[in-house]
Amino acid sequence: MVVADVILIISRGGGAFFSRWAHVVVGITWIGLLYYFNFVQVPAFAEMDAAARNNAIDKLASRALWWFRWAAVLTVLTGLSILLFQKNADKAQLFSGDYWKSVSGMSIATGILLALTMFANVWLVIWPNQKKVIANARNVQAGGEADPAAAAAGRRGALASRQNTIYSFTMLMFMVGTAHFFYSGNGFKALPSSGDRATYWIIAIVIWALFEANALGWIGGTGQNVTNWMYESHKNALITGGVLVVIYYALFYLVLKS
Ligand code: HEM
Repeated sequence: MVVADVILIISRGGGAFFSRWAHVVVGITWIGLLYYFNFVQVPAFAEMDAAARNNAIDKLASRALWWFRWAAVLTVLTGLSILLFQKNADKAQLFSGDYWKSVSGMSIATGILLALTMFANVWLVIWPNQKKVIANARNVQAGGEADPAAAAAGRRGALASRQNTIYSFTMLMFMVGTAHFFYSGNGFKALPSSGDRATYWIIAIVIWALFEANALGWIGGTGQNVTNWMYESHKNALITGGVLVVIYYALFYLVLKS
């Protein structure tokens, strides 16, 4: 009976619906903590004395980072689950690539590109560097010598964290816009030509890559310089994130409007 009910729910579109619901729950957990780190914790830590900060890193930041990185994993998994369920009725279309050539497909593909980059930043940059910061705070609390490399590790993690904040607004525009705005019939092309798609992707990928390379320190290093202006305060990151939304919206609109 239970199995039959589950099959009924899924056949009525419940698989896509509950994946979508779970995706938003874990997505807000991840991005909510990202905003907490950027808008609350970093400015507060800057005003604390070293002993209080080390204690907060040990007891508070370490816990927040646990929820942060596992919420990121669940966000990716539930996002993939929506994709698999919602095109269930027409899997051939999803896997043949035709879906990805539509305006909606291009919208969600852009959102996923940004979200996967943010996911890689969490697991390959922010977390490995934060582990060093936490280990140092615990060691100093226990009376050990401070690790001279901890500050540089914190800085590398902070650049990636601010870059994730910058990407997040555009990423969410495409996540939400796929079903609610960027679709043919709403002023966008029914079938973008291969030329349209190439123009869009070349520009979209160049912008994405420049920002990510900058966050990794590959353009101007990790110090304070002109290209790292956007990472020096959460206000600068917010301004840059807003500008990026306008740039990607203008690109999508100009290339793909019908
Ligand atoms: C790699 C990671 C991700 C994947 C694979 C993914 C995938 C998806 C897919 C397939 C959709 C449905 C699009 C449609 O309407 O057709 C979606 C929607 C959405 N995603 Fe993601 N996503 C990812 C990351 C994120 C993140 C980090 C957030 C942050 C909160 C997020 C929030 C949302 C929201 C709010 C929607 C809109 C739900 C709706 O319109 O009903 N996603 N995502």
